[in-house]
Amino acid sequence: MAPHRIGILTGGGDAPGLNAVIRAVVKYAVGELHWQVVGIEDSFNGLLDDTHRTMDLTPRSCRGLLHRGGTILGTTNRGDPFAFPDGRGGTTDRSADLAAAVRDEGLEGLIVVGGDGTQRIGWQLMKRYDIPVVGVPKTIDNDLAYTDYTFGFWSAVEVATDALDRLHSTAEAHDRVMLLEVMGRDAGWIALYAGVAGGADCIAIPEFPYDPDRFASKINERRRRGRQFTIVVVAEGARPREGQVQPSEVSHGLGSISAGGAAQTLARALAERIDIETRVTVLGHLQRGGGPVPFDRVLATRFGIKAVELIRDGMWGHLVRLDHHEVSSVPLEQVTGRPHPVDQRDSLVACARAVGIEFGG
Ligand code: F6P
Repeated sequence: MAPHRIGILTGGGDAPGLNAVIRAVVKYAVGELHWQVVGIEDSFNGLLDDTHRTMDLTPRSCRGLLHRGGTILGTTNRGDPFAFPDGRGGTTDRSADLAAAVRDEGLEGLIVVGGDGTQRIGWQLMKRYDIPVVGVPKTIDNDLAYTDYTFGFWSAVEVATDALDRLHSTAEAHDRVMLLEVMGRDAGWIALYAGVAGGADCIAIPEFPYDPDRFASKINERRRRGRQFTIVVVAEGARPREGQVQPSEVSHGLGSISAGGAAQTLARALAERIDIETRVTVLGHLQRGGGPVPFDRVLATRFGIKAVELIRDGMWGHLVRLDHHEVSSVPLEQVTGRPHPVDQRDSLVACARAVGIEFGG
């Protein structure tokens, strides 16, 4: 019987641990099971160009990957084959070309490593074209409902916590309110975990629109107790209950970004209410760059191995996950489009409130 020949691609924003997943897949599938693994470059795009951009992956070509950030498979953030940029400002459906390319390459199926959008594409490919797919979930935001953690999350929390540790000493030395803006456009998990780990006094997250008066009261209460400085973590999607976030936008050909707007908006609201110096730090992509922390290396390795096991056992159409510390899987059909926002009833929110952290809402 011919050996299995499978493709692997990485899609969506990057996350520390992508290379660790690739390495684990290749070490097990090629090194132990003697399958062939083909890396597809630039997300799905590598199969959409006239000359396919692919690479045969071997344990040798994956040496030294465990701790490397980014992805060896080119860039991650490329077009959706079902709504592919047509070069004239519109989109066109190129999914049939993609399905044909998978067959041309002799690929039995694909391991799709990516966030919710990428998994949705994988699932559509399977449904519409019968291309077998196994998914590996990824986002530094950790906002997926069916897995305890996604790889990359703890690496981001580590960077944010380190930043909070550093901000503490300078905040204290100047009696300032320090606002740290962290990633999390739609979900506040990085802000929540880093805020608790870094001893923040206030946390603003997208799920709990805030009343700035509550943050101002917290700062004043601290001052009455002789604590002249305050540390505030702001997720980039945080917003006030009333009024708007003033975006600090940078436009470019691919759209616009608004990093910095959420923390600046809160800093302005605080300046209107209290007489204390504020400073804003925007952590940005430092949270996504660089290598994975040990937890993410282990999780990414476990996810990669599980993906191969699923294929070995004929369980296409599943997504790997961490469920109560055990790696298992769940049908793709059940999970795409199921976000996991921070909830007021979350036990970590209760814990944060118990140590005096103010959420503003
Ligand atoms: O991966 C999700 C995320 O980390 C969000 O928290 C953040 O808003 C976004 O990526 C930033 O993406 P980009 O790199 O496209 O600016």
